[in-house]
Amino acid sequence: MQRLNTIAEQRAWTKEQHAAGRQIGFVPTMGALHAGHISLVKKARAECGADAAIVVSIYVNPTQFDNPEDLERYPQTLDADIAMLTAAGCDAVFVPKTAEIYANGHATFVEVVGPLVEGLCAVARPGHFRGVATVVTKLFNIVQPDVAVFGQKDLQQVLIISRMVTDLNLPIRIVIGPTVREADGLAMSSRNRRLTPDMRIKALGLQRGLELANRAFKQSEVNAVKLAEFVYNETLVHPGVDVDYATVVKLPNLVEVEHADDQCVLAAAIFVDGVRLIDHVHLGGAAIPVNVEADS
Ligand code: PAJ
Repeated sequence: MQRLNTIAEQRAWTKEQHAAGRQIGFVPTMGALHAGHISLVKKARAECGADAAIVVSIYVNPTQFDNPEDLERYPQTLDADIAMLTAAGCDAVFVPKTAEIYANGHATFVEVVGPLVEGLCAVARPGHFRGVATVVTKLFNIVQPDVAVFGQKDLQQVLIISRMVTDLNLPIRIVIGPTVREADGLAMSSRNRRLTPDMRIKALGLQRGLELANRAFKQSEVNAVKLAEFVYNETLVHPGVDVDYATVVKLPNLVEVEHADDQCVLAAAIFVDGVRLIDHVHLGGAAIPVNVEADS
């Protein structure tokens, strides 16, 4: 696997792949990789074919952290990440530096507006999605992928990026990979490293609450407040747990609804002793509208 440390190196690699007629599949990450990230690398390979070139970026993007301590504490495990990517058959890893990504005088941001960025994680994390949209646009411009793969775990993020790709006419196909979970059901996340065994038990209430709500939905419960209550009930029993939100929203714009249907998702964010965890359950199972190709 090739390691690309600068924008110039990444651009040269991209040029080489395209000159050889290879498609480029791209998975942007912030490192501290786990099996969820690796599943996206495999998804990129499956989507683009054996001949394609797959590249993963590892870059902890400062502009998407609303909380400086969170940025400071973000785990950095580059050697282990590179070993995992090599084992997964990834072709290249792009590891840029902030001095290059946000060069002196940087003053341009990309911001999606409207309902997609008015609810859920956007409320507690002002500026977060602006930072994500900005860095992803930069990475897309540098890497120039044909396909980019994102995880369903961060549903609001992938829908925002998909909106942005359509609106900016970027010739990139966005693909979504399913949420990979630990054996006990907890959604994999780089933040799980901060959970002690005790916190881990508390965290499991989130997925249990979502699953119970889904079961109730399948048995005809459509009242959004009642569905959200499963999350509150399963999590707030533990001391040190706070619910940021548990909300039924409708695809594709994630607007809050009072009555759930099969286009809806119950999404939730909780704090377990200060560690923020998110998860959601797709109540109906209708397709998530992310495969929108830019009309370019
Ligand atoms: P990061 O949190 O490192 O996630 C990188 C990608 O992995 C995202 O598309 C995320 O949705 C996906 N992912 C995380 N946990 C997953 C899981 N358990 N199963 C499947 N996929 C999972 O998301 C970011 O980085 C950043 O915001 C980024 C897009 C790189 C921009 O900086």
